[in-house]
This record gives sequence, structure tokens and C-alpha cells, in this order.
Amino acid sequence: MPTLQFKGKVFVQNHHLAVPFHELQPVKAKGLSKTPSLHDNVIVQGDNLAALKALLPTYHGKVKCIYIDPPYNTGNEGWAYNDNVNSPMLREWLGRTVDREDLTRHDKWCCLMLPRLKLLRELLRDDGAIFVSIDDNEVHRLRCLMDEVFGEENFVTTVIWQKVFSPKNTARHFSEDHDFILVYARNLEKWVPKLVERSEEAISRYKNPDDDSRGVWSSSDLTARNYYSLGTYEVTSPSGKKYKPSVGNYFRVSPDKFAELDEDGRIWWGPDQGSMPRLKRFLSEVKNGVVPQTLWLHTDVGHTQDAKKEIVSVLEFEKSEDVFNTVKPTSLIRRILQVASDKDSIIFDSFAGSGTTAHAVLALNKEDGGNRRFVLVECEDYADTITAERVRRVIRGVPTAKNEDLKKGLGGTFSYFKLGQPMRQESLLDGSNLPDYEALAGYVFFTATGEEWNPKRAKRKQWFIGESRLYDVFLIYEPEVERLKDMALTLDLLKKLPSVSGKNKLVFAPTKYVDQEFLDRYRVTFQQLPFQIYKAVDSVTTKDSTTKGTKNTKAGPTKKSS
Ligand SMILES: C[S@@+](CC[C@H](N)C(=O)[O-])C[C@H]1O[C@@H](n2cnc3c(N)ncnc32)[C@H](O)[C@@H]1O
Repeated sequence: MPTLQFKGKVFVQNHHLAVPFHELQPVKAKGLSKTPSLHDNVIVQGDNLAALKALLPTYHGKVKCIYIDPPYNTGNEGWAYNDNVNSPMLREWLGRTVDREDLTRHDKWCCLMLPRLKLLRELLRDDGAIFVSIDDNEVHRLRCLMDEVFGEENFVTTVIWQKVFSPKNTARHFSEDHDFILVYARNLEKWVPKLVERSEEAISRYKNPDDDSRGVWSSSDLTARNYYSLGTYEVTSPSGKKYKPSVGNYFRVSPDKFAELDEDGRIWWGPDQGSMPRLKRFLSEVKNGVVPQTLWLHTDVGHTQDAKKEIVSVLEFEKSEDVFNTVKPTSLIRRILQVASDKDSIIFDSFAGSGTTAHAVLALNKEDGGNRRFVLVECEDYADTITAERVRRVIRGVPTAKNEDLKKGLGGTFSYFKLGQPMRQESLLDGSNLPDYEALAGYVFFTATGEEWNPKRAKRKQWFIGESRLYDVFLIYEPEVERLKDMALTLDLLKKLPSVSGKNKLVFAPTKYVDQEFLDRYRVTFQQLPFQIYKAVDSVTTKDSTTKGTKNTKAGPTKKSS
């Protein structure tokens, strides 16, 4: 397969693997949850590369639908790539703000996107899909990157979203009336889109000119170009006119079936009873929805002005320049959710902007009683003042809103996190930037077991950090380099570790002075810090799947991503 080459590609190709795991620190005051949790609706403030990596232990292989709306790279956005890639030269080049004068802005954009797309793919369920908004500036390069990351065989379609309601007559060449949304499945064999509910406009096409007691109907051509051996007969209309399909066309039903349909009043011969016959389809008999189409009209899914009005009404901006420019309408995201999510799905948006995705998830849950959850990432400071603020308001209620649900509040909770320190092997090894005990405990527990850590269960004096479904987990560690050098699992210590639940023990420590024989005797699995934090995942989940047979063995990062 031909692949896209761009400056810096060799450096970012595997960058997602090199990105260290970061702590995710809850900021309770900014969320709307009594107990902040990564299993709640989540907003993370931070760069999405580090944030996605930090979310992997919790969400690997669990996300049903990803929607992202990255910078379109128009040259006017003033974004700067800030990934800490290894090469200092490349870092310097990448770090400069991207504008129209920058002849390598497309290379930089590809450097931004490639590692993020790779991480996003890790998050998707087998039957999940990703939707990416983009315009002509980068659509062709994005398509190549997506082919590379998701596989061209998993390309679903390119949706055209009619984003404006009237053409721009001041345009120099063409009025750009649409954006693209590229859609890729994690595995096209397993991804099935849902039907889309009929639009008002589609419903209005159903009429009842013959007063049929079965209600409104629409009609379709009874002939087609597909060869059908029984489809060349002649029919006579009630007014006596004779009809045959035109040359190269065939009736789609046999003569017997035609007669049966006519007898049942399902053939429409036109108001004069003498036109080419058509098949009647009653609204009451068609499926609840229609197969999703690739053209999304603003009349069905909203346009950019709708989006701006929506956000202004929620956030009550005083100055028009405060309005978020690239905001999407909730009805657009709602359409994506309708096509690609179930009522209990997890939805990701790692370029969250004003939080439209969260708003759309909450609104749809309210409407259909669903329990979808959102996870949003936004790097800018407005993650709190715009993204989270919008979510706080729509949850609690917007008194001035016209929509009754929104006025009363859509309900729900969310937890707010910020990125903490990176968990680097080097900093654990050389003692620089040592995470505090709680941070490492939470991280180790989560990463090793795929389960949420509950600090209340910990008994620090006994090094016990919590009980997972399979293990009592222990962390022997102090964030002091001198002490850390002497910290080891000794036989004496091993004997003193409390048997909290009677399960096998999983012990993390910088080193051990005890033979395997004793570890076996005391049913201890030893994991050396910092090297084996991730290894534990594999051993734990493998054992787990053999004992219980139900757990998703992909929970927690794979070796590949560690
Ligand atoms: C086009 S806007 C998204 C708009 C959003 N769909 C809405 O309806 O409001 C892109 C957002 O991605 C954010 N962003 C860009 N690079 C990012 C990164 N590396 N990590 C996290 N957020 C990022 C920008 O700050 C911006 O808010």
C-alpha cells in the first residue's frame, strides 16, 4: 500500500509508545461528582497524547465511538505542536507556531495526528468506529494517515456535512459549504451502523392522495436495470393504457406478485389511473429508521450558526469574540451517536473544544433514557471555563433555554482531571520527580489490575494498597531516593504482609531478597518497580481470563503500549 511520507515521520512513528504514563489527578471542585472517578463521565485537561495514554489502562478496547474535531490546519489557527519527541532538532522545528507562511505546516500536522490516531485506535472496541471532522486543507492527508493506522479495509465512508445554510457570495472561487467527516471502523466486519430516524423532511414526503385507510405512503419505481427473467411482461392500467418496462429495464416483481400487489391496492397508477405503475410504501410499515446516508444536510443535523447560537445560549458570552469559532452543532454529534453508539456506550472526544460531544451525549441520554458516558480531553485553559462550564450548566439547567429538558437540566455527573507527573522509569530510577505514594499506588493498582483504586481500602503502614478481583496488592515504596535504595521485599517483610482477603498477593517493590521458593510458599507474585508495572497487566489478565473466562483480557495496556 502506498504510504504518506512527511518530515518528522520517523520520529513520531512510535512516539505513542515512548510517551510516559502520567498521573490523572482529580480536581473535585471542577467536576459534578461526589467521588471523582475515571468511570464517571470524564473531562481531562491536558495534551491529548499524554491524556490518551493515561486513559489507556481504564479504556483500552472499551470505547464504542470516537468523535474528534482536530485543528483543520487552515494556517490561521495558531496552533503549535508541543510533543516532547526525542530529537532536539525536530522538537525545535515542531515547536514553532504553525501559520500560512510555514511551508512545513502539513508535515507538522501529520506529526500531531499520527501518534494520536494510533492511541485512539487502541481505545476502540472491536465493534467501534471513529469519526473525524476535517476540511479540504488536510482531508487527503488525513485519509492516508487513517488508512495507515486503521487499515484501508476498515474505511467506512466520507460523510459530507453541509455546514452553512446559505452560500458565501463573497468567496473568490467557490463557496465552501461543507466539511468532511471521515469514518473508519476498528474492524469493518464487526461494525454495524444503526438506522437513522426519519427526518421531518423525509416524513413529509409521505402523502395520501388516494385516501388509503392504511395512512400516508410514498411510491417507488417498480422497474430496475437488474436483469430479471420474469420482469418483461406488459400490464394494463385501470384506464386501459398498456405499460412495459423500457428497453434494458425489468419489473422487480413477477407477474403473479404484481397482480397480488394491485389487488391489495399497493400499486399506484397515478391520479389519472393511467400512469406507469409505482409501488406504494406505507409509513406505518417501513422500518423505524433509514440507512445512514453520506450527505448530511443542515436541515437535518444543523449548521455552524446553529452551533454558535447553542453555545451562546448556554454560556451567555458577553462579547461576540469570546464565542468559540470552531464549535459544532449538538445535532451533528447526535447523528453520529445515533449511527454509532448503543445506550450504554462510551464515547471519546480528545479534541473537545467547547464540549459539544458531552452536551450531545447528555441530551441523547435524557431523550432515550440511555446511559452513554463521555470522556473528553482539552488541552487549553478553557477546559475548565468553557468545556467543563458548558457541561456543568447543561447538567444543572440553563434557565433561559428554549428546550424544556435543557431548561430543567439534563442531569448526570462528571469528574474533572488534570494531568499530573509523568511516571518515568528514569525518574524512579534516579530519584528525580518521584511520584508520591498515593499517586504511584493508584497508578500501579489501576495499571496492574485494570480496576479502579480505592484509596480508602489502603493500609499504608502494611504496604497494602487494595484488593482486586484476583489479588491483595502491595506497594513497598517511599518517595525518598535514599530510602528507596534500601527498600526490598525481604523474607521478614513477606511474612508480615497481612492476608487481607486470603487471595494471592501481588507485591510491587524496588527489589527483593527472597527466593522464588518462598514467594511460591506465601503465594506472592513479585513485580519489580519500575520495570514490571505493565508486565503485571499481562500476567494478571491472562490468569484472570483462565479463571473467570469473562474479563476482557485486553483491559490495561498491552506490552506494545507500555
Ligand atoms: C476544532 S476545536 C473542537 C471543537 C469542538 N468540536 C466543539 O464543538 O466545540 C479543536 C480543539 O482541540 C483542542 N486541541 C488541539 N490540540 C490538542 C491537543 N494536542 N490536546 C488536546 N486538545 C487539543 C484545541 O484547543 C481546540 O479546542
